[in-house]
Amino acid sequence: MEGKIVYSAIQPSGNLTIGNYVGSIRNWLAMQEEYECFFAMANMHAITVRQEPAELRRRTLELAALYIACGIDPERCTLYVQSQVPQHAELAWVLNTVTYVGEMERMTQFKDKSQKHADNINMGLMDYPVLMAADILLYQADFVPVGQDQTQHVEITRDIAIRFNNRFGETFTVPKALILKQGAKIGSLQEPAKKMSKSDENPNASVYLTDDKDAIVRKFKRAVTDSGSEIRYAPDEKPGISNLLTIYAAFAGKTVEEAEKEFAGKGYGEFKLAVGETVADKLAPVQAEQARILKDKGYLGGVLALGAERAFKAARKTLSKVYRKVGFYQGE
Ligand code: TRP
Repeated sequence: MEGKIVYSAIQPSGNLTIGNYVGSIRNWLAMQEEYECFFAMANMHAITVRQEPAELRRRTLELAALYIACGIDPERCTLYVQSQVPQHAELAWVLNTVTYVGEMERMTQFKDKSQKHADNINMGLMDYPVLMAADILLYQADFVPVGQDQTQHVEITRDIAIRFNNRFGETFTVPKALILKQGAKIGSLQEPAKKMSKSDENPNASVYLTDDKDAIVRKFKRAVTDSGSEIRYAPDEKPGISNLLTIYAAFAGKTVEEAEKEFAGKGYGEFKLAVGETVADKLAPVQAEQARILKDKGYLGGVLALGAERAFKAARKTLSKVYRKVGFYQGE
């Protein structure tokens, strides 16, 4: 696996949940040991729905600090803000010309978001997957660790890469999505069949990475459970308890089977309290470290400047190749 490249990004919009933590950031930690990694704050994706500008800027820094607090090593990985690397927009433009309107109209997330933001179905929202393809292809990524909901976007990225390569000759690495089975899907605490979401309107549905211990414990106490009293992993029959077991296992660093054994014969109340406390205690040091980094503006600014510079160099190389292939004049 020497020399393989990993690319992923998170949008600095909404409050990150423990689902993002388990499903994305934590998985990335393992990757940085093995691969050359690029991790971005996807602020250009974020503005496809309305954002409060000051808040977007603040969340971008918070997200960067969080990555580092979680253990992403900014020396080893390239951690950067998407909008600081102009090649993303430039490559997206070229890729737009090998992407069909019909394909974009059929994307599940576009359809969902169009319903949710019916008053703002802008071109960016529709073009979102092409910008994501540009992100990934600029860095010639081999692997793209994402949550289940992003697999369709990685699929279309592959289609676009293959199409471009066929038309213009070998240019892009065709990437693969990496979907981690365990913890890939953390459900809402109120409707466990639904994904835990940054934008859920019910404040008890999602546990945010910024929640304090009281809030976390309270939310787990209020989590919906299932009929019966057994603590057993059975997603169809017991979606609530199974979701809590998944969360517990992820935060306690255990397997679901080990978690089941640990709580065999115990009541729902005791179990929910243990899950809440485990999550809160695991998050506390990360939260403290994030706060410390956020205060150190010089350090954080330096990390992002270095990241943008490294990303820029890699992106420039690919874009120049693309411009050559499509016949853009690049000077003498
Ligand atoms: N669309 C992704 C999400 O909302 C974020 C993202 C943007 C991304 N660009 C990417 C993920 C490139 C992986 C690769 O989760």
